[in-house]
Amino acid sequence: MNREVMLVTGAGQISMAIARRLGFGKKIVLGDRKIENAMAIAKIMNEAGFDVEPFQMDLSHRESILAIIAEAQKYGEIRYLVNGAGVSPSQAPIEAILKVDLYGTAVLLEEVGKVIASGGCGVTISSQSGWRMPQLSAEEDRQLAMTPTESLLSLSLLQPQNIRDTLHAYQLAKRCNEKRVMAECVRWGERGARLNAIAPGIIVTPLAIDEFNGPRGDFYKNMFAKCPAGRPGTADEVANVAELLMSDRGAFITGSTFLMDGGATSSYYYGPLQPGA
Ligand SMILES: NC(=O)c1ccc[n+]([C@@H]2O[C@H](COP(=O)([O-])OP(=O)(O)OC[C@H]3O[C@@H](n4cnc5c(N)ncnc54)[C@H](O)[C@@H]3O)[C@@H](O)[C@H]2O)c1
Repeated sequence: MNREVMLVTGAGQISMAIARRLGFGKKIVLGDRKIENAMAIAKIMNEAGFDVEPFQMDLSHRESILAIIAEAQKYGEIRYLVNGAGVSPSQAPIEAILKVDLYGTAVLLEEVGKVIASGGCGVTISSQSGWRMPQLSAEEDRQLAMTPTESLLSLSLLQPQNIRDTLHAYQLAKRCNEKRVMAECVRWGERGARLNAIAPGIIVTPLAIDEFNGPRGDFYKNMFAKCPAGRPGTADEVANVAELLMSDRGAFITGSTFLMDGGATSSYYYGPLQPGA
């Protein structure tokens, strides 16, 4: 078989919205740690005319990433990558956030970058959270960007004594995503492919609903109430940006992270969301 293949990780709302926008006519291989999530999304999409293969995989393990890549390659060259797998600060402990959101994403970008088709493109979902953390030093940014994947979790700034809580771990992971996208896009470019990230603000999905109901629920509700847009976003709005980044109209965009948060970050620095305001 030789089809255009879209590899999607994370059978969540954001992944599904992007896959529905861009995946029609392509073979979509959809991986999730919970196979029932992948099967549920595959059913919805297959009943709407898409061609989705659910696959059990765990983003925090290289062998699992290699397994889904091998599965995707059964159908043809991988031309599109959508990484929407992740855990949020209220869903997982520090180690799991670092292993999935930071290490797993870095390995996925590395491994898909070795096989991505010429003309292909990828998008990984980071988060506005990476913006709200103070600047790291130039050396720390470089370490997050360039450290070989198997050494990433040994970096001093990622050791338990240097991480305050799960939110801090999540922010570091999402900052790392942006830096990895910059470093990896150079290698993807050598294959004629592009790689970008989208950093959404609060998007209503099961993950965000866990946050609304978690220990920082009031903080999140306040965040969207006081951001310039005055509301949370939707997964389909994330797909709007993915459509630009992954289409020919985005041909000059690579190594970028596109912040789309209803202005929450702006308000955090210069508006009513400023700490203590
Ligand atoms: N929803 C938001 O407000 C928001 C905001 C900013 C960033 N994000 C990011 O968007 C991405 C997608 O989140 P979503 O809101 O669509 O969530 P979601 O809960 O709808 O989907 C996430 C999916 O990832 C899967 N997953 C978790 N750990 C995994 C692992 N180790 N291996 C494979 N799959 C795994 C989950 O089972 C789930 O199906 C995440 O990286 C999240 O950090 C979400």
